[in-house]
Amino acid sequence: MSRFRCTLTVLGVCSSETLAGEGGMLSKEENDLLTCIGSGTPGGEWIRRYWQPAALSEEVAAGGAPLPLRLLGEDLVLFRDETGEPGLLDIHCAHRGADLSYGRLEDGGIRCIYHGWLYDRSGRCLDQPGEPVGSTFHDRIRQTAYSCIERSGVIFAYLGPGEPPLFPAYDFLTAPDECVTATKYFQDCNYLQGNEGNFDPQHLSFLHRLISTTPDDFRNAIQSTDKSPTIDPVETEFGMQLYAVRKVDDNQNFVKVRSFVMPGASLVDSRGDGCYHSDWHVPIDDTHHWKYSIAYKRTGLDREADLALRKRPAEADYTLKRNRANRYLQSREKMQTDTYIGMGRDFIIHDTWATEGEGPIYDRSSEHLGYTDRGIIILRNLMLAGIRAVQEGRDPLGVVRDPARNHFPDVLARDDMVPSNVPWRFHWRRQSVEGEPASAAASAATR
Ligand code: FES
Ligand SMILES: [Fe+2]
Repeated sequence: MSRFRCTLTVLGVCSSETLAGEGGMLSKEENDLLTCIGSGTPGGEWIRRYWQPAALSEEVAAGGAPLPLRLLGEDLVLFRDETGEPGLLDIHCAHRGADLSYGRLEDGGIRCIYHGWLYDRSGRCLDQPGEPVGSTFHDRIRQTAYSCIERSGVIFAYLGPGEPPLFPAYDFLTAPDECVTATKYFQDCNYLQGNEGNFDPQHLSFLHRLISTTPDDFRNAIQSTDKSPTIDPVETEFGMQLYAVRKVDDNQNFVKVRSFVMPGASLVDSRGDGCYHSDWHVPIDDTHHWKYSIAYKRTGLDREADLALRKRPAEADYTLKRNRANRYLQSREKMQTDTYIGMGRDFIIHDTWATEGEGPIYDRSSEHLGYTDRGIIILRNLMLAGIRAVQEGRDPLGVVRDPARNHFPDVLARDDMVPSNVPWRFHWRRQSVEGEPASAAASAATR
């Protein structure tokens, strides 16, 4: 019997000792539970308890065309009314189902161009030109509408029931404009494959390895040399921190810490310049998703240069130039001279190749998890616990309603050389008690 297998119930959560061994797989039912996000499914009800990226701010200019989009399997239209505030409605008009994304933006909302019904951002029907004068029919019409908040270049939406939770005050969502940039990439597979790829730091030794690099690229050198890092996941009040520890010599380790924020944001640091990326995998439907990527640097970014670099792998519509259709333009020659996998130097391409190759919805009933997959086990357990919480009528982990708890100094991603005699879990905390808040100290660690 596998030591990883959740055997108690469909919603059973593996105990921590099951992390120690090798093996592992999920049943078909467990896999469905984790990957299906349609309305009414257990996973869909769970993920709807959180604010989700719905679009980049740049996709809906003030006064510009409404944006048709698909989010969590729902077809919606995003628009800005005359005040510039975003509204997110069911794309099909409540009258007879016409497509509202072709509508006119006027008179305080979006007007369907079929018979002229007008809706505001809250879904109220303000006008029905064809109804008799004095009719109150419009008062009884409600277009499905979802709350929106715009932060860090992204428009977020809440698609769940009841009062939305507090908008989470992570550093990358509360920072001034000069400290953040945002873009996104199309991913042709289920969103969980993206999340799992972010919590598998051993792949840095292979998938992202550079063959030709500069002598001062010590990260690539260490990761290429120590291919068997210690993997140390820690559950937190927001999700998980995961430490990957590679031995440099008898006196020091190279430690990378990354954070998983429920339900789908992975904070990773790959540049070592005090900047981290929050890679937020958001389901379009069960077999496609967007990878939103918000870059954050506490001391400020060269936003133009950063965006030019991060948009380079993608077309204007956010699909990737290297993709499955062109076999990611893999070059056998470059595999000898440039990078280990011969697909260029953009990590987004490497990761996309890995996760899309697993299939539209990866069948986890045939996998064989090993030691390096410890973070993935924790991630799945957190999701299963969240699904169970929603089924029992409770808020899942990471949903915050108390302003006093909307504070997350440990949501971070950093790397550093850590003395061998210092426990890595306390390295950044130790710096914080010596002068700076934890997150600020962590930012300073690699500057
Ligand atoms: S279908 Fe939209 S107004 Fe008739
Ligand atoms: Fe990666």
